[in-house]
Amino acid sequence: MRILGIETSCDETAASVVEDGVRVLSHVVASSEELHRKTGGIVPEVAAREQVRSIIPVVDESLKQAAIDHEGLDAIAVTVGPGLIGSLLVGVETAKTLAWVWGKPLIPINHLVAHIYAPFLELEKFPEFPAVCLMVSGGHTDLVLMRGHSLPRAKRGGDFKWLGGTLDDAAGECFDKVARILGLGYPGGPAISRAATDNNQAPITNNAKIILPRPLIHEDNFDFSFSGLKTAVMRLAPTSNTSAVAYEFQEAVTDVLAVKTIKAAEKFSAKSIIVGGGVAANQRLREKLGECAGNVPVFFPALKYCGDNGAMVAGAAYFNFKSVRDLFKVEADPGLYFG
Ligand code: KG4
Ligand code: ZN
Repeated sequence: MRILGIETSCDETAASVVEDGVRVLSHVVASSEELHRKTGGIVPEVAAREQVRSIIPVVDESLKQAAIDHEGLDAIAVTVGPGLIGSLLVGVETAKTLAWVWGKPLIPINHLVAHIYAPFLELEKFPEFPAVCLMVSGGHTDLVLMRGHSLPRAKRGGDFKWLGGTLDDAAGECFDKVARILGLGYPGGPAISRAATDNNQAPITNNAKIILPRPLIHEDNFDFSFSGLKTAVMRLAPTSNTSAVAYEFQEAVTDVLAVKTIKAAEKFSAKSIIVGGGVAANQRLREKLGECAGNVPVFFPALKYCGDNGAMVAGAAYFNFKSVRDLFKVEADPGLYFG
């Protein structure tokens, strides 16, 4: 089965054709990141206008790369939320129109669920359930227990129980804000990681005095809080070595994410750990989870599928194939969550 996945929830405009949920036949991502670099963050109206411009060429290119035309598609899947309303509308209305014109089933997909299916892409051996999933992106930080693929009556894909999440900033958002405080640019995640690596090469005394808190790390719950870290960095920044602060900040965030994920995996006797979202690209998070998980296998997306893309949307749709007959019922839903 070949599904075209369309994703426009934030600043990317992406489309992919995926066969049987895992074989990626095309992967096209247009980003307006360059424009947002100038403003140090995403301006929603600017993102949506770029998406209107690029959505049709991106879909065309994804079919071309997959070497098929629309007749070779079995269905269309689209991210309906959560995300920026103007951006979501571009993908949702385009997908509805294509589904109607081409006469294809349309499958609405939750963006958070799509991130959880990113590690399935190009896999031969799938994660076993129950799985503890860490969803870490620019907009969300959640721990969920995944008991399987879609239940017959589940609203939008996957059998999920939400365990906990951030009480304030998302982990990726915190990377972005701290990078801005340190003058490292946007997006913050890769910028902080690069600066932190420089610190590894600097004399060890550099970071001797810099210790940041690990918020909620010992609390008996699965919640996170990152906004205090940002404030702590703000206090340190004027008088400290930038790469040393970046290093300690990355250690603090990844310590908390890894410890809480492992705690959840132990509590629910998880057979696998699945990590999705932009922050899943973080090398230190990969190392720490890999080291602490013991015999429980940890599944990360390939780096190219960590950020927003259409392939994960098509993948999620394959494993939770629920098309909507009445296209008018498919609507952008910016506040969509797990459930
Ligand atoms: O999933 P994503 O592309 O978009 C959302 O759905 O939010 O995630 C983007 C976020 C940004 O905050 C970015 O700074 C972060 O992922 N990110 C990283 C890394 N690469 C991207 N955070 C930490 N380390 C990275 N290597
Ligand atoms: Zn995302």
